[in-house]
Amino acid sequence: MGYADSLFDLTDRVVLVTGGSRGLGREMAFAAAQCGADVIIASRNLESCVVTAEEIAASTGRAAFPYQVHVGRWEQLDGLVQAAYDRFGKVDVLVNNAGMSPLYDSLTSVSEKLFDAVVNLNLKGPFRLSALVGERMVADGGGSIINVSSSGSLRPAPDMLPYAAAKAGLNALTEGLAKAYGPTVRVNTLMAGPFLTDISKSWGLEQATTNPFAHLSLKRAGNPPEIIGAALYLMSDASSYTTGAILRVDGGLP
Ligand SMILES: NC(=O)c1ccc[n+]([C@@H]2O[C@H](COP(=O)([O-])OP(=O)(O)OC[C@H]3O[C@@H](n4cnc5c(N)ncnc54)[C@H](OP(=O)(O)O)[C@@H]3O)[C@@H](O)[C@H]2O)c1
Repeated sequence: MGYADSLFDLTDRVVLVTGGSRGLGREMAFAAAQCGADVIIASRNLESCVVTAEEIAASTGRAAFPYQVHVGRWEQLDGLVQAAYDRFGKVDVLVNNAGMSPLYDSLTSVSEKLFDAVVNLNLKGPFRLSALVGERMVADGGGSIINVSSSGSLRPAPDMLPYAAAKAGLNALTEGLAKAYGPTVRVNTLMAGPFLTDISKSWGLEQATTNPFAHLSLKRAGNPPEIIGAALYLMSDASSYTTGAILRVDGGLP
């Protein structure tokens, strides 16, 4: 094994990725398995979790366990954690990745239902999952929790305020959880800028006449595999002295 391989080695670790069926979550789950981890792929659509888990298992030879869950529903999260521990006996890495920001016309058109759904998925669910898994990680001797946030939490735009506020709450959660579960469990924020996943299909990029990403230093959106390096850093012992941190992967936010 080369030097970099051993630094990022995840052999026999167990990595739970919410929203692991598509987009950035799928990239991170695949990468973890490539580095030797068994993975749990959790999202609402069981069929897509099964498909992704089968692809990961076939191409990496690692175990990949699909699980259906709505992360915004508190009462479903105990079941996810129990299933993960029943299947693998431990969780070494929790990636709180599932998230979304629905479109709305105006701030007054934001319904209480939409607001609650956004906060439940992007903030409440990660809080509950981190509490359930973090406590068990401490008892088991350590682990890494990664909260996938958004550059919108630093630069809140009017068209995604509930989401920006929920992700800002997630940033705060990271710092508090790092204190709660240290010194053995590390908790970090992986803060994404614009990435070309299913989310970006609603951005109207085909109709754009000027570069919508010209304000970024790199002048472009990220391709999903470009999340992997930062994710593997936070999952692995490569980041053994990094906790309570925000790692920005955003093409250079102004
Ligand atoms: N792409 C970007 O530009 C961008 C920018 C900043 C931050 N982020 C953040 O990065 C994370 C991943 O985004 P992405 O672009 O990869 O999104 P994506 O391609 O839309 O994938 C979202 C994933 O989350 C799952 N999911 C959605 N709602 C869920 C729920 N209620 N319960 C459980 N799983 C749920 C989806 O599967 P199901 O539909 O089967 O549930 C899917 O696996 C999110 O937290 C997002 O806020 C993304």
